[in-house]
Amino acid sequence: MHNIRKIQDDLYNLGVNDRRITLFENAHPVPRGMNYNSYLLLDEKTVLVDAIDRAVQDQFLENLTAALAGRELDYLVVQHMEPDHCGLIPEISRRYPKMKIVGNKKTFQFISQFYEIDLTDKTLEVKEGDVLETGRHKLTFVFAPMVHWPEVMLTYDQTDKILFSADAFGTFGPVDGLMYADQYDFEREYLPEARRYYTSIVGKYGRQVSGLIEKVAGLEFSMFCTMHGPIWRKDLHLILEKYQKWASYTPEEKGVVIAYASVYNNTQVAVEILANKLAEGGEEKIVVHNVSSSDPSYVLSDCFRFDRIVLASSTFNNEVFPYMDSVLFDLKNHNLTNRKVAVIENGSWAAQSGKRIREYLEQMKGIEIMEETVSLKSSVKAVDVEAIEALAKALLAG
Ligand code: FEO
Repeated sequence: MHNIRKIQDDLYNLGVNDRRITLFENAHPVPRGMNYNSYLLLDEKTVLVDAIDRAVQDQFLENLTAALAGRELDYLVVQHMEPDHCGLIPEISRRYPKMKIVGNKKTFQFISQFYEIDLTDKTLEVKEGDVLETGRHKLTFVFAPMVHWPEVMLTYDQTDKILFSADAFGTFGPVDGLMYADQYDFEREYLPEARRYYTSIVGKYGRQVSGLIEKVAGLEFSMFCTMHGPIWRKDLHLILEKYQKWASYTPEEKGVVIAYASVYNNTQVAVEILANKLAEGGEEKIVVHNVSSSDPSYVLSDCFRFDRIVLASSTFNNEVFPYMDSVLFDLKNHNLTNRKVAVIENGSWAAQSGKRIREYLEQMKGIEIMEETVSLKSSVKAVDVEAIEALAKALLAG
């Protein structure tokens, strides 16, 4: 049975939740699942803006058939060639043979790389700023390379001021019936997974995201129709302001993230003492992650949120602990900058972990490695508590 959502008289959301997926991109945990949106514009011409992941194609194809109600599909706008949106291009092309695929040069290159389909007479190649008139609506295309892939383009409906925003402004998780972002408590229900989605998916490409925000700054918006998660129809500034912060690697607020790796809890003891000292000193936001159980995406997300970071690790095989290595890899490869970072190391005969952590941090731009440090030999002693207190004091100084 179809399950279609009406946005306005001529615009429908054919989106579907996948509640069985556990890892988005086979990498990022999505414990509640994932939502994929697809928008159908029923103008004089019919236009589908992106499709969804093949894992939940049956519901989507029923939705598409029902929403078209016997009409032809004239256009499929491919905003992004990642398979969570484009995996159904071959099937949709087969069902609607007269349909034109709207994309840019790179889009068609990628379609040919992913799928062996004959594109002869099936394409409409657009350039930045081109207009596609579909009747009442005029659609223009805003290129946004690397938000999240090089071919990405957003679609702006000049008539109704709607921005179909591809991967931008989305979130992890399903949509539980409530289709609009304003139906959620932004700080509590929406922001944590939107932040983790942003940092995981496009956190690396802050410069390009900033460029996109500047490019669309002069446009008027009634809605952001996202490809993942609720649609923005009110208070669009809330998500725009967050994107400006994240894209410029500006901490959202003051706070300390402590990420630790501990084999037999001795490094953890140091971390717990530090957290308590920080709290006693007046720090209001402290988040502690055990990297053996917190997926790196959660650590990364909190590192984008807060201004100070503590990395504490046991030495393991003469290296940093492997799960801490994953965190460091993520921080570096997402270009995190503008942060103050402290290091705690532990080693029973050769404490190598601190050295390895510093080597990572020294490769990152704009990272201030704090002089205050803690070097444990196996377990925390009175002298170490003094070092932890000194570190807490330095962190509290901001
Ligand atoms: Fe939702 Fe980059 O794909």
